[in-house]
Amino acid sequence: MPAERTLHVADSTVIVFPDADAASRAAADRIARVVAEAVPARGKAVLGLATGATPEKVYDDLAARAKAGSLSFRHVVTYNLDEYYPIQPLDPLSYRYYMHRNLFSRVDLAPNRAHVLDGTVPEAAAAGHAAEFDRWIEADGGLDVQLLGIGRNGHIGFNEPSELSPAEFADLPTRMVDLHPVTKADAVREFGSPDAVIPRALTMGVRQILAARSIIMLATGPKKAPIVAQALKGPVTAAVPASLLRTVADKVVWLLDGPAAAELG
Ligand code: GLP
Repeated sequence: MPAERTLHVADSTVIVFPDADAASRAAADRIARVVAEAVPARGKAVLGLATGATPEKVYDDLAARAKAGSLSFRHVVTYNLDEYYPIQPLDPLSYRYYMHRNLFSRVDLAPNRAHVLDGTVPEAAAAGHAAEFDRWIEADGGLDVQLLGIGRNGHIGFNEPSELSPAEFADLPTRMVDLHPVTKADAVREFGSPDAVIPRALTMGVRQILAARSIIMLATGPKKAPIVAQALKGPVTAAVPASLLRTVADKVVWLLDGPAAAELG
């Protein structure tokens, strides 16, 4: 099996792995390393987590390390990127439920340290809840690492393509958003039919994501190849949200499998 190869696409570091499992393992390695460094240095590690199909193997890997005793979440605090709105936490389609199933129930993380935006807040309280989420992250000293996936339209979290200037986009706080048509089409896979897709969500803002001390972008599979190439090689624009990662390229690593890297040239 060929080894990984590191590319430098403009200022961005891109590591291409032989397969998705190897890319996921590398993401888990990096997260475990952040925990091992941050806990003795600051007393805690603050992780920004993602949902979707892509990070599932990362969580399997982290859960296996916790089970084996080589990684503890006792001093970890987590913040998830996003949640559908409105949705109940026990709804199997909620991201709270996803996180419970894939990670929280499998590791020694205290429930009150696992933050997922609350899909049950009354509409009138949603803006306040979103602002509070940003304050909690800041009170925890900011994110040590943010794990990201990428939507086929380039979204990060649920920060959807926008006509804002890059500077305005980079400053967006945590907030309620309408999902983009491409995102809704992709969500049919989980929701079963277009009519069942919940069209709104709460998402961590671009500001908080870009402020993380390190960022891991994990993208696998051929469907992500066009948007990965656009984000890394096209213009830095809010029309391709992930392209904004290039404004903080020195703290970002892109972990890809061969198919996702296919259009990087
Ligand atoms: C979802 C999530 C994103 C995720 C992306 C890609 O809608 N809100 O945080 O990164 O879309 O999902 P997947 O990994 O399933 O392709």
